[in-house]
Amino acid sequence: MKNISIALDGPAGAGKSTIAKIIAKHKNLTYIDTGAMYRAIALKILREGIDVDQEKSIQDVLGVSNIDLEGNDIFLDEHLVTEEIRTPKVNNFVSHVAKIPLVRMKMVELQRNIAANKNVIMDGRDIGTFVIPNATYKFYLTASIEERARRRFIELKDKGFDTTFEIVKEEIKNRDKMDTEREFAPLRKAEDAIEIDTTGKSIQDVVAEILHCLK
Ligand code: DC
Repeated sequence: MKNISIALDGPAGAGKSTIAKIIAKHKNLTYIDTGAMYRAIALKILREGIDVDQEKSIQDVLGVSNIDLEGNDIFLDEHLVTEEIRTPKVNNFVSHVAKIPLVRMKMVELQRNIAANKNVIMDGRDIGTFVIPNATYKFYLTASIEERARRRFIELKDKGFDTTFEIVKEEIKNRDKMDTEREFAPLRKAEDAIEIDTTGKSIQDVVAEILHCLK
């Protein structure tokens, strides 16, 4: 039987990972958080103080880095980094790393390998357009900038980070800009993706909308 693959794309704070985890449980799919993979390699580049313009250093670090997804956890070189990849420092750095073609090619190769011969739901920015262009289902989640910033602000506050709504909003705007304007596989809705605006909708509403499309 043919494997099922669901591509879930959209900007930061649109609700992708929350929704993907629930759909994965409902449909018994493997959840692949591709953003976490970019975050993990960004964390390593940050820790090692590598300049993102130094192609050779980036290539070297990619060659010796191990990124593993296990359930909802992520390991960098066999160490759990699930929490550390979500700090404001990584939030603000990751888009600089994600625009490097060398990094993207390596991550996409890993993503395709993980997805091979499995039923998957993969969330990210370029899943429906680049990683699995022949996905069984494609969704594009959006929400207003205000709502996305509010969600991320609450998330960061709950984790004890000292920030403001305005700062978070600016950071998300910058990230959107970099993710949509980069040359290699930018954030874009696939032509055949179903677009869902999650502004003002509950998680359950969005899950129900997606499950309805999967029938
Ligand atoms: O979804 P997220 O916020 O965890 O993603 C972190 C960053 O990684 C985001 O700013 C853009 C990048 N990313 C990407 O370029 N392509 C993907 N498939 C997933 C994430």
